[in-house]
Amino acid sequence: GAEMTDFAAARAHANIALIKYWGKRDASLILPTSESLSLTLDPLYTDTAVSFIDGAEDQFILDGAEQGGTPLERVRAFIGLFRQYMSAHGKAGSTAGSEVSGRDCDSLYTRAVRVESHNHVPTAAGMASSASAFAALAWALRDLYGLHGISDRQLSTFARRGSGSALRSIFGGFVKWKYGTGDNDSYAIQVDDAQWDVGAVIIALSTKQKKTGSRSGMAHTVNTSAFYPLWREASEADLKLVEEGIRERDINKIGKAMEANVMKFHAVMFAADPPLTYMTAESWKVIEHIWSLREQGAPCYFTMDAGPNVVALCPRSHMDQVAADMRSAFPQAAVIPAASGPAPEGIPAHE
Ligand code: PMV
Repeated sequence: GAEMTDFAAARAHANIALIKYWGKRDASLILPTSESLSLTLDPLYTDTAVSFIDGAEDQFILDGAEQGGTPLERVRAFIGLFRQYMSAHGKAGSTAGSEVSGRDCDSLYTRAVRVESHNHVPTAAGMASSASAFAALAWALRDLYGLHGISDRQLSTFARRGSGSALRSIFGGFVKWKYGTGDNDSYAIQVDDAQWDVGAVIIALSTKQKKTGSRSGMAHTVNTSAFYPLWREASEADLKLVEEGIRERDINKIGKAMEANVMKFHAVMFAADPPLTYMTAESWKVIEHIWSLREQGAPCYFTMDAGPNVVALCPRSHMDQVAADMRSAFPQAAVIPAASGPAPEGIPAHE
């Protein structure tokens, strides 16, 4: 029953990496060892509302349930980045006309914040929601604090600190995470709005928590896989081909390089000690099915993250056909066609 004095809310969409981010060169700033590139996904998103509350403690409510422990700590640390920014840059009120101008901006960052999130990632999708979650939170906090001087590009560096892949959810379409030299220029750029005949189909085989989270899985791979230096080099070459394919709107070129990248992504983990194995027998069946569709003439290609689920990239015009085929071949899977998604946007209050 805390009194709400000021409010902002945003929606951000999830993304699937065509070229994977897997390894940090700086663990506290979350700077990557290589560049990655993703497609923002329309049907999977998080809505997040933030408001100032009376009291000393920040609160985090996820899908109606009050959170404590690590989830709350991650959200609190994330808000801390904005607080730190505000205390370093003085008043937020330099942005005349913002919702907070006229208030005592100097003290805003000392106030407790309530974060309320709803994941619209179909539970059966089994897709990580941390990307859409931290992108939505970053977008909403920029509004709440009236930090309209922070560009989307700069905001992506904030999102990055919540979860690396969240940086790419600050833009729609095809998005690249620039390597950069440090915190300020390791940001996201949109390479293409993906408003052409390209889309994806998610084939979700399991909603179970993955056995090794991305944070520890990455560190383990970097530290123990003899293939790691090769992964970095190969990934750079794969990325160039994907970018070329996007420029040419050539789904076959994009798909081929994307598949080559995901194969190496899993191979570098097979070579870790002990090995990390995210692919299951079921994943392989789906992959082989995608290959057989391709042999029959459908331009579809697969990728996977650090889990058993498979995502097919195909022309948007083939999405429903591929989805129908997958549903009949794998009735136990949740199959979700996913067109390219937009950048985050402010949304009105819900509740
Ligand atoms: O954002 P994180 O720390 O959950 O890492 C995501 C890693 C992958 O999803 C496996 C790859 C990627 O680039 O999204």
